[in-house]
Order: sequence, then structure tokens, then C-alpha cells
Amino acid sequence: MKLFISLALTLAPRATARLARYARNSTSHPGRCDRNVFEREFYLLAKGLEPTSDKVTAHSYETMYGTFVYPLKFAAHTPRILEIGLGCNMDYGPGASVVPPQIWRQLLPYAELWEAEYDAACVEKARAKGQLEGIKTVTGDQGDFAVLKRWAEEIGGELDVIIDDGGHRCGHKNSQIGHSFDVLWPLVRNGGVYVIEDLQVGRFKSYGGEKINYEDTKGRGVMADKIKDWIEQLVTIPRVFKHTKGRGFEHKIPDDVSFVYCQLEACVIGKRNRHVEGSRPGLPGHDFPGRR
Ligand SMILES: C[S@@+](CC[C@H](N)C(=O)[O-])C[C@H]1O[C@@H](n2cnc3c(N)ncnc32)[C@H](O)[C@@H]1O
Repeated sequence: MKLFISLALTLAPRATARLARYARNSTSHPGRCDRNVFEREFYLLAKGLEPTSDKVTAHSYETMYGTFVYPLKFAAHTPRILEIGLGCNMDYGPGASVVPPQIWRQLLPYAELWEAEYDAACVEKARAKGQLEGIKTVTGDQGDFAVLKRWAEEIGGELDVIIDDGGHRCGHKNSQIGHSFDVLWPLVRNGGVYVIEDLQVGRFKSYGGEKINYEDTKGRGVMADKIKDWIEQLVTIPRVFKHTKGRGFEHKIPDDVSFVYCQLEACVIGKRNRHVEGSRPGLPGHDFPGRR
């Protein structure tokens, strides 16, 4: 105990000094006050790429990618990442340079990267131009269960990260995100994450002055509503969930969800860290043994 106290007293000033140094550095970019060093690094590196992804321009996704994905650069294994949506309809790709693989290749050079895309011709064109070197691809409609099952087979094995930045077609957004999550979530490894971008689109009833409905589930499968329901079940465990087992909630949370993080226009769903004896596999959110 004495040893522990004297160690803590010795290390505390050093940790404080390190924090102060970090706080000074993190405000060296006017207008920005980053929450952690990974967020800042992700932002600066992604912003420096040409062309720049809308992940750090139109959106502020550096917060979730910096926090939950970029630290994989320290993984002891080869991280496996799947992104749905190559960016064929974006003004920066694929004519210029296909952006998402470029971001992940630069920021996580050792990762195994998969891109899923609806537009097979665009994928072929990008490959012919040499823009997909080292990138594995699958093609088809992410709203189609048969296609999703084929993707799962072709990819084979577990993934550390799945990113849904795919279909934004009107009248399809929520079912596309929902179907993809249902089939692909089991592929996420313990401790991995499933990222859903652009959740706001599932609520669009008009866009750019035009009357456009992106909702196709008659209000029953709006992904933002599902996630809100999941959060309620997570934060009321064990007091409520123990008794209800998810009954009374419209959308039962998958048992192996460990956390939900949401930010502007996007959420990250985290998978249970590990299955160990003594953990409570029947209850979401329970990662470790001995925590009751
Ligand atoms: C917003 S863009 C992706 C942007 C890209 N991830 C980036 O960061 O620059 C959406 C992409 O999803 C693709 N897409 C649209 N509908 C799809 C579907 N049903 N299944 C799979 N991909 C789809 C589009 O062709 C387009 O390439």
C-alpha cells in the first residue's frame, strides 16, 4: 500500500505536466479545442489529403473516427475495416482519387481495407485507374439481404470496423442502413465498432427545396429512433432491462452491444469487449466479469 501511495505521488506531477502540455498544444489551432490527441491527429492528417474527404469538411466525423477507429494504428493485429460507399457520386471521386480508401490507407497503413459499392462499373473504372491498389471490393445493393449475405461470405471472418456511408437514395435510407446492420453486425469482432454516418438523411422529407422522402419504413424503422431505443435500454440496465428483457421497447437492443456513442449526424455502436466466464451474455452492456 505504502509503495502504491509513494508511486502515485511521484507520478501525479508528471501526468499533470503532460496534460498541461497537451492542453497547450491542442489549442494551437485557432477555433479548435480537441477532446483527445487522436481526434486532432485524425483531423489534421485527413484535412491534409488531396482531395479532402467530406468526413472532415461537411461533417465533423474526426470526433468519432479519431476516438474509436484511428487508435487502431496501435493494434497488435492487422485491423480489418469495411466501408460501405466508395464515393462514386461525390464530386471528388472516383475521377480524381477515390477518397475513403485513401484516408484509411494513409491513416492506418497496415489495415486490411474493404470497400462495398453499389456501382460496379465505377469500382472497375477506379481499379483500372490504379486507385484501388491494395483495396478489396464487393459490389451490390446494401439494402438487399442476399447481397449482404454474399458480402459476408466474400469478406470472410471478423471485422474491427464497419462504416456505413452508403446509400442516400430517396425512399431507401432507413431500410438500407437497417438491413446492412442486421446482416453485418455479427461480423464485428468483440471490442469492434459499427459506424453509421449521415443518420439525419433518414428523417429528410425534403432536400434542396424539393419534396423528397428518404423514409421507407412507414416510421417503424427510422434508424435514429432505433438507436434512441437502444440507448434507453443500455442506460436503464440493470434496473429495468433485468425485468423487461427488452419487452416494451419497440426495438430490442442486440445483446452484445456494449456502448452507443452519438455525435452530430452519426453514431458508433460498440460490440461487447469479450466473452468471459462470469460476464452476463444475456444483458447488453456487460463487458467484464464481476461488474454487477
Ligand atoms: C456518400 S457516398 C460515399 C462517400 C465516401 N464514403 C466518402 O467518404 O467519400 C455514397 C456511396 O454509396 C454508394 N451507394 C448508393 N446506394 C448504395 C447501395 N444501395 N448499396 C451500396 N452502395 C450504395 C454510392 O454509389 C456512393 O458511392
